[in-house]
Amino acid sequence: MLKIAPSILSADFACLGSEIEEIKNAGADYVHFDVMDGAFVPNISVGIPVLKSIRKSTDMFLDVHLMVDRPVRYVRQFCSAGADLVNFHVEADSEKNILEAISIAKSMGKKTGVTLKPGTSAEAALPFLPFVDLLLVMTVEPGFGGQSFMYDQLPKISALRKMIDEINPACELEVDGGVDEKTAPFCKKAGADVLVAGSAVFGRSDRAAAVKAIREA
Ligand code: DX5
Ligand code: ZN
Repeated sequence: MLKIAPSILSADFACLGSEIEEIKNAGADYVHFDVMDGAFVPNISVGIPVLKSIRKSTDMFLDVHLMVDRPVRYVRQFCSAGADLVNFHVEADSEKNILEAISIAKSMGKKTGVTLKPGTSAEAALPFLPFVDLLLVMTVEPGFGGQSFMYDQLPKISALRKMIDEINPACELEVDGGVDEKTAPFCKKAGADVLVAGSAVFGRSDRAAAVKAIREA
């Protein structure tokens, strides 16, 4: 079944604990935790202390999306803070350093993923694909919630589906940005396993209805 990963970026940070409890009760699969450093992307969100607090308050799977330059500098801290899976942007450092970040996270018992910005080709995932548990495709420019889905990324999602099936079939394919009940069917058709949704879940008062609508769209 398609997994749904609500992005906390659109949640009410003043009551994050109860927001997460609500999406858990709504049947969401992962908590998508967006970390922005104001350098890799033109916005700043939350980081290690907030992840630590969330880890104490929920047993949900924490899918951490690092929109951070040279993430190898911080991978240990995010793993210790309680991430279940850490996503690294392939654009954020050299291939060698991203591979090192992956290997550190694995050595700490965590799952790993690599993420592609809209302008990055599917082939850029190839050096990492054999080693990761998840590929994350951005369907907006990273940095902000509530943007419009970029339909021109659909062929890339299909291409990555093929690569995953050939090279590492256990790897999940996740799509992030502008996903709602209207765009979800296109992602599903292109082969996505996990859909991130921020505003489409936290922007609605009935989170259970929102999660269900996206999953069943
Ligand atoms: C954007 C983040 C997304 C974002 C998605 O940089 O990575 O996870 O919160 O928000 P929506 O679903 O509103 O596009
Ligand atoms: Zn994200």
